Amino acid sequence: MMLSAVVAIASLLATVPASPLVSHLDAGSLFGRTSCGTNTPLSCHNTTKQTNLCCFESPGGSILQTQFWDTDPSTGPTNSWTIHGLWPDHCDNSYSENCDPSRYYSSITDWLTTPQILENAGATDVLSYMQTYWKNDPDDGSDEELWEHEWDTHGTCYSTLEPSCISSSVQGQDAVYFFTRVVNTFQTLNTYNFLSSQGITPSSSTTHTLSSLQSALTAAYGFTPALTCDGSDLNQAAYYFNLQGSLIDGTLLPYNAPSGSSDCPSSGIKYLPKSGSGGGAPTTTSSGSGGGSPTTTSSGSGPTGGSGGSLPSKGTIESSTGTGCLLSYGTWSTQTCATFTYSGSTSAFTMTSSKGKCGVQSGALTCGSGVTSGTFTAVSSGSQLLLAYQGSTSFSADAVPSGETQETVYTGTSYSKTLSLVL
Ligand SMILES: *[C@@H]1O[C@H](CO)[C@@H](O)[C@H](O)[C@H]1NC(C)=O
Repeated sequence: MMLSAVVAIASLLATVPASPLVSHLDAGSLFGRTSCGTNTPLSCHNTTKQTNLCCFESPGGSILQTQFWDTDPSTGPTNSWTIHGLWPDHCDNSYSENCDPSRYYSSITDWLTTPQILENAGATDVLSYMQTYWKNDPDDGSDEELWEHEWDTHGTCYSTLEPSCISSSVQGQDAVYFFTRVVNTFQTLNTYNFLSSQGITPSSSTTHTLSSLQSALTAAYGFTPALTCDGSDLNQAAYYFNLQGSLIDGTLLPYNAPSGSSDCPSSGIKYLPKSGSGGGAPTTTSSGSGGGSPTTTSSGSGPTGGSGGSLPSKGTIESSTGTGCLLSYGTWSTQTCATFTYSGSTSAFTMTSSKGKCGVQSGALTCGSGVTSGTFTAVSSGSQLLLAYQGSTSFSADAVPSGETQETVYTGTSYSKTLSLVL
């Protein structure tokens, strides 16, 4: 009994997303919301009728985090699935939609960037993440339209997000809670990495059986998602959860997709590459991942073994720890390094990656289409040129990356692993 209780608590803890975005939302203090405590039953698992639906999700207690793998046309990064939504299905797999037209908001972007909400919730991080990972099919409309659709159709159906559950005068905060939770949940469900860790990468020729894909995902993640195909092309995944407490800050506990919830042929399934990925190495590249000697693709003025004097026009950014480098979103990883383009001089420059401008948002180094350019300097240290922000060459992260993991890099030394970044 004791042991199983400990294991149960450990697995509960393990399911709380440890994303840096979570820390921006201290739901209890933010909006004067009353915490739900830990004694509420798990959604769909109550044995008596629950009356406080601010702390017990009902009737939508079977929560699906749905993802797209869009290849026609391709959307989002070539090495990541993208967000579809977070749907509160009923416990019997039926569902409600469009639950509260009075809370259909006209611009999710505006809500997330309203200064008041921005200050309180740090939701510009969420927005910039959405701009990269929550993509509409351009034939169906803009990303904003997909976000509005997901909020209107599904977000308004969460009992735990009803305005009466949130004692605040900030209009739209229910949507901020929703979008923040969708992003945080998605960040724990890296389908691309789950599959690649099991040797399954996009290919225009290889075919898979449904059971082999599900086995691979189950081996990598621990639970079985539902898979959906467009014809024989794999194009969606849905991860199932029950919720203890509120969607705002409760615990999502994973469970296996019900049998029959996948909609793919049993064999002959293709996991097609997104256009531009080709399933192989990018065309301009460098391999700075741990182990080998780093190389760069800088154009003549590169820093490789250089004097550390002038700013190169472009190059990779390596960790001073000898492990890994920055990827195009500004995260630290042992995967293939991104190439950054610099503009300015060592005393003040901006930089971009293939994803967009680089800057610092809520303390984190980030590159993307919605990012405001930060001004960086380059500081000579021996033969090296170090990246500096606001005069400091110190950066830190929660952990040293390995394998397919990516770590957010923060300015300053608040996180446990400190590093410098070598241009
Ligand atoms: C669980 O609580 C919900 C919400 O009050 C209720 O509709 C449902 O009947 C309850 N289930 C059981 C088995 O009591």
